[in-house]
Amino acid sequence: MKLYVLNGPNLNFLGIREPAHYGSTTYLQLIKLIETHCAANQIEAVCRQSNHEGDLVDWIQEAYLEHADGIVINPGAYTHTSIALLDAVKSVMLPTVEVHISKVEEREDFRQVSYIRAACVKTITGHGINGYLEAIDFLNREYRKGEQV
Ligand code: DQA
Repeated sequence: MKLYVLNGPNLNFLGIREPAHYGSTTYLQLIKLIETHCAANQIEAVCRQSNHEGDLVDWIQEAYLEHADGIVINPGAYTHTSIALLDAVKSVMLPTVEVHISKVEEREDFRQVSYIRAACVKTITGHGINGYLEAIDFLNREYRKGEQV
């Protein structure tokens, strides 16, 4: 099982940015947590972060070209603006889970729109960084090929 775990703009500043919304865990600590969790569950995790929309599009396409089994993505603010990310996920047809650390549905009006959601098999909001692990477990449970009895 191979998963791409993609993070969008400002998520490299986890632990620094608005701890009331995003907690005190740093991006590096998050990646260590994800890698440890994935290793324990025989999952290969490719973790990437960028502040640039096109990089995220490129990596969604790369996930397809590299035969990944699924994608976990927190697109950050591009959630609320990016048709390019929606189109990218639609293009690759890989099961994709949208994750938000904060409970976006209880925040500002402009955070109530998610373009990418229409192409995602699941959305997890407001579970802090644990949401990433829940997304990974969901994909592992529902989409792991071949090995289930
Ligand atoms: C976020 C929520 C977005 O609205 C915001 O722009 C982010 C982080 C979250 O993880 O809660 O950058 O995706």
